[in-house]
Amino acid sequence: MITVNENIMQFQLDTAHTSYVMRVKEGFLEHVYWGRRLASGDHTYMRRELGRASFSPRMENCRGPILDDIPLEYPCFGRGDLRSPALEVINPDGSDIADLRYVSHTVSEGKPALAGLPAFYAEKGDNVSTLCIKLRDRVSMLECDLYYSVFYDYDLITRHAELVNRGENALTLEGAASACVDIDRCDFDIVSNYGTHEKERMIERTPLVHGKMEFASRRGSSGHEHNPFIILASRSADEFKGEVYALTLVYSGCHSMSAEGGQYDSCRVLAGINPDGFRWRLGPGETFVTPEAALVHTEDGLGGMSHIFHRAINDRLIRGKYRNSRRPVLLNSWEAVYFRFDEEKLMDIGSCAADLGMEMLVIDDGWFGRRDDDHSSLGDWYINRSKLPNGFDNIHKMLHEKGCGLGIWFEPEMISPDSDLYRAHPDWCLHVAGRPRSEGRHQLMLDLSRPDVCDYIYESVASLLRTGNVDYIKWDFNRNVAEVGSALLPPEKQGEVLHRYYLGLYSVLERLHNDFPDVLFESCSGGGGRYDCGILYYMPQTWTSDNSDAIERLKIQYGTSLIYPLSSMTGHVSASPNHQTGHVTPFDTRFNVALTGSFGYELDPTKLTDEEKRFVTETAAIYKKYGDTLVNGDYYRLRSSYTEDCAAWCVVARDKSVCIAVYVNTHVRVYPRNEHLAIRGLDENARYRDTRSGAEYSGSQLAGYGVPVDKNHEYSSEMWIFEKI
Ligand code: GLA
Repeated sequence: MITVNENIMQFQLDTAHTSYVMRVKEGFLEHVYWGRRLASGDHTYMRRELGRASFSPRMENCRGPILDDIPLEYPCFGRGDLRSPALEVINPDGSDIADLRYVSHTVSEGKPALAGLPAFYAEKGDNVSTLCIKLRDRVSMLECDLYYSVFYDYDLITRHAELVNRGENALTLEGAASACVDIDRCDFDIVSNYGTHEKERMIERTPLVHGKMEFASRRGSSGHEHNPFIILASRSADEFKGEVYALTLVYSGCHSMSAEGGQYDSCRVLAGINPDGFRWRLGPGETFVTPEAALVHTEDGLGGMSHIFHRAINDRLIRGKYRNSRRPVLLNSWEAVYFRFDEEKLMDIGSCAADLGMEMLVIDDGWFGRRDDDHSSLGDWYINRSKLPNGFDNIHKMLHEKGCGLGIWFEPEMISPDSDLYRAHPDWCLHVAGRPRSEGRHQLMLDLSRPDVCDYIYESVASLLRTGNVDYIKWDFNRNVAEVGSALLPPEKQGEVLHRYYLGLYSVLERLHNDFPDVLFESCSGGGGRYDCGILYYMPQTWTSDNSDAIERLKIQYGTSLIYPLSSMTGHVSASPNHQTGHVTPFDTRFNVALTGSFGYELDPTKLTDEEKRFVTETAAIYKKYGDTLVNGDYYRLRSSYTEDCAAWCVVARDKSVCIAVYVNTHVRVYPRNEHLAIRGLDENARYRDTRSGAEYSGSQLAGYGVPVDKNHEYSSEMWIFEKI
């Protein structure tokens, strides 16, 4: 709901539980308030101005505002706000000043799409409305349209900016954030994710300093290192209560998410494309659209914040056939056979998997070109006939007769120097003439800022999908960038390459999404190196990590769940000892941890014992029965392996009729305490039956004391499925 009071030039955006207020004063668009829901009214008294601000410049001959003190919605460089800017411009005269002042505003129902970019969307009947505020620099004639869409029922606000050059000469954008929020306090903890390959999205919580804390990527993707979100939590906020502000970016390229504690104890939060390496030449009449940022405020702690993001991502970001529904139980061939397979082996594991109740065989890396290891063939997307003389025909036929689909791995954005494609088109990769081309995993990145490269990628994937043999694609991306340059763009546009790369990638993905609506796409980047809201718009799930060890996954999945729903996390039961860590874990623990909204196996099923095979059949049936709850339910982090010798969580159906809870022991002590696990999110006035043991409990018993837990075996785990009686 959006209320504009034109008498006082105040804009109030209300969701079910929050309000976000701005006003125009002396032409500047100021931030007034963001927090719990306010009744509509005049809130401008909340903005107290500093009487004095030594050293900070005052505008218009010492009578005007002290920009350095004003909370601004889209602060610019050069006119006396000396905090980090949202907008940095080089004007045609070489100056770097921007001065955006209010011009007009419009309010509309629903939400417009962002040209060429992924974004949260509104459906017909949704309580969603959009405010657009136009600002203009009256000297350079650069215009800035700030968009705010209010998802009332989801407690979500999305923002982005559109910059239009109304001047007569080209100017250059050196930084254009998606959102800025100035909060009038800085006594927060910053919660962020850090990580690396096989150790993604570790949680770190540290007090905000007076200074800038930035979580960024310059990797050519959102990356393993810092996920594109930033959370500001009140010092006392925990999982279940306390004030939390969070911003995430709907973008897969290089990002910068920062919080800056300022000299007057306020805090500026910025979210957007990383300005390093970004320079966008904006010709007269041209528009630059920033990626979208999604903003959440709650007083229900980190758990409450996650529920908001999870519901919004599940319902209004993910699209297509698999939105809100469980995914097929799959067998992925990677850890089962790596590059060592032929048709016979795939027929063996595929038919065994189907007999055990699995629904998809995914042939991972190695089916194309001359690919027997990772040194060659990326780009040569034709079937390797020496391994698969009949292509996918026989495998697909056998699988379909057993009610099972076929998936294949692709890494379409890459090119191996040892490939027919590279020999034919050495200019198709990102490179800078006259400089060496750095390889990562023996590969270069294709230049997706080029339309011809995008068409090649689309055709490579589409031609295989058109055969009707392929039901699923795992879309991988296995290196970081270096020497970013495009052979097609002129020198003054080289700073646009990486963002143009993502516009190219998104256009390819959009075409595939529209042309092959029944195909399930999973994104991957050495596991979770491109796990973001941008990619989830096109592919509803991401391979969470190449680390498939159940115990290591506890922290990875816990960290991932801060923003991303279970539906987006792929979890596989892999072999024991685990291939990455050597940990030996019981089968049921591997299952209990892998049981996310997108579940499968990654081992050779023909090597399982009879007992293990029975277990696989039973567990596939559990996932089929409860998969929709896992996908759509509210996820509660109950116990954290970051701070305890266990991990536990539960997923509760939105109508509270079903709850799946899991507890994992990570360390056994000589005298374990009398452990019990309290369950959150249930209807405390109802009764529940544990479908596995038959035990019955009241909702209040489960919430108050919970269920007893066995603490005697390292890496042991328990799962409960409670159904409302
Ligand atoms: C990446 C993926 C793995 C696997 C390999 C294949 O590392 O994350 O799951 O697909 O590539 O080369």
